[in-house]
Amino acid sequence: MATLFVTTRDGTQHEVPAEAGVSVMQAIRDAGIDELYALCGGCMSCATCHVHVDPVDLDRLAAVSTEEFDLLESAEHVSERSRLSCQIEVSEALDGLRLKIAEEG
Ligand code: FES
Repeated sequence: MATLFVTTRDGTQHEVPAEAGVSVMQAIRDAGIDELYALCGGCMSCATCHVHVDPVDLDRLAAVSTEEFDLLESAEHVSERSRLSCQIEVSEALDGLRLKIAEEG
């Protein structure tokens, strides 16, 4: 189990419990946060699970795949901290990960 710190668009920070093995997107949605539409269900075709990872936590994540990079390029409000949350697998090592839900495109 890990705890994620998720900031929604109004600036509120939520503590989100996340089981190892699920995606960050799934953990956020399971916590009842509905700002993350995740329209494709995690099959990497929508980019509506876009989040900005806190700069100090970026190095804790696996590298962005070519497919994820390409899809992010089509999203709005992209930065060097952008990730698709459906592509981040929760593990104990990610305990305390901080991220913010991206603005709507
Ligand atoms: S849920 Fe569609 S790309 Fe992540």
